[in-house]
Amino acid sequence: MSKTITIDGVTRIEGHARITIDLNDQGRVHDAKFHVTQFRGFEKFVEGRPLTEMPSVMARICGICPVSHLMASAKACDELLSVEIPPTAANLRRVMNLAQLVQSHALSFFHLSSPDLLYGFDADPATRNIFGLINTHPEFAKDGILLRKFGQEIIQILGGKKIHPAWVVPGGVSEPLTAERREKIIAGIPDALDRAKRAATWLYSTFEKFPNEEAAFANFPTMFAGLVTPQGNIEHYDGALRFADNTGKLVAEFTNPYQYRDYISEATENFSFLKSPFFKSKGYPDGIYRVGPLARVILAEKCGTPLADAELKRFREKLGRAPASSFHYHWARLIEILHAIEKIGELMNDPDILSPRVRARARPNRNEGVGISEAPRGTLIHHYKIDDQGQMRWANMIIATGNNNLAMNRGVKQVAERFVNGDKLTEGMLNRVEAVIRCFDPCLSCSTHALGQMPMIVELRGPNGELLDEIRRD
Ligand code: MG
Ligand code: NI
Repeated sequence: MSKTITIDGVTRIEGHARITIDLNDQGRVHDAKFHVTQFRGFEKFVEGRPLTEMPSVMARICGICPVSHLMASAKACDELLSVEIPPTAANLRRVMNLAQLVQSHALSFFHLSSPDLLYGFDADPATRNIFGLINTHPEFAKDGILLRKFGQEIIQILGGKKIHPAWVVPGGVSEPLTAERREKIIAGIPDALDRAKRAATWLYSTFEKFPNEEAAFANFPTMFAGLVTPQGNIEHYDGALRFADNTGKLVAEFTNPYQYRDYISEATENFSFLKSPFFKSKGYPDGIYRVGPLARVILAEKCGTPLADAELKRFREKLGRAPASSFHYHWARLIEILHAIEKIGELMNDPDILSPRVRARARPNRNEGVGISEAPRGTLIHHYKIDDQGQMRWANMIIATGNNNLAMNRGVKQVAERFVNGDKLTEGMLNRVEAVIRCFDPCLSCSTHALGQMPMIVELRGPNGELLDEIRRD
């Protein structure tokens, strides 16, 4: 005799998913799950296509984070060509990747999550959104909108168009940067930094108002995974993949991307199309790890840029080296926005960024290639096999949101246990169940390989399937 609450199409996250909460006879939560319910099979779809098309085709996996797939795909293709791309090409790709991070993190923090922090998790959902923000906190909303625009414009300046830029190609990029375009990018940096600093200062003044959410939003020990530079600093494009334990202590690190198979296995659950990667030697599900902004700021010795490092110092003074609560993804996201803007400035001011040497040309020289990069939401792996003619024979992708799948599921259960009680649904309960997912900023477009948002339907059903309660959001 148990009841199930279903949250269908979680609001204010990207894409489509469903949450079910199973109640026992006492009306207490005994299980909860985060389901990803659609699948388009991109890995099969690309078979037979030439590798030269891969970055652009792979970018079509997702309308939300095409740039992330572009990066991982291009790196896998560089491997297939067996080339070392020119340093300027790597730095230009890096700038585009950081610009994507700024726009994506700004969307996550300002548009999707800050309404909860400004109005409270129990506030009226009719105003607890970006439109409410524009009315009540216009300057704050403007900061979010303009930070997002800053990132989008850089992608456009570099790639020629916002979505699916074909500028990133196997072997580098198709065109060098012009001095004029560089000036346009540099011009936006001071304003973007001011807006990011203001957001970080505001979050610092407010995050302690949510002790219950901090305690229950996926707050448990896990490992962490993400890229670091050779110096152990934060990295989003290249470098070594590092795994640390729940205290931040190093467990494993490797620079050869093919080694991911030695450390990561993927489990499949019958309730979701999204696989659940885990750290191989610890087994499933004990090998649970988290990726994304929180993992990256925990794993890195430092950011390596002044404003982000000052913010990271504040973060560590308050929370320690490795905070367990996923509530702190928000703060980590703002540290990364600061770092990304600073780093874009640093790279743009390097005279070599205008070098005309941006592409290594070669035919396929290997039959297998792996590319690993950091998407805004975490580590992304593309692994391809081609035949001697350069046609795709096989692909595997481990997407960022998948890496967090185990932690998101456990987090949904934890928050449901704490906030859901009885057979009536309240807005505050539902919002917190969704908000724990929003901490991870999952890209459900990537996860499901499907675009578009669904209205949310929440159903509470009795033991015989009778409808006890229902909430709809359109
Ligand atoms: Mg896969
Ligand atoms: Ni995506």
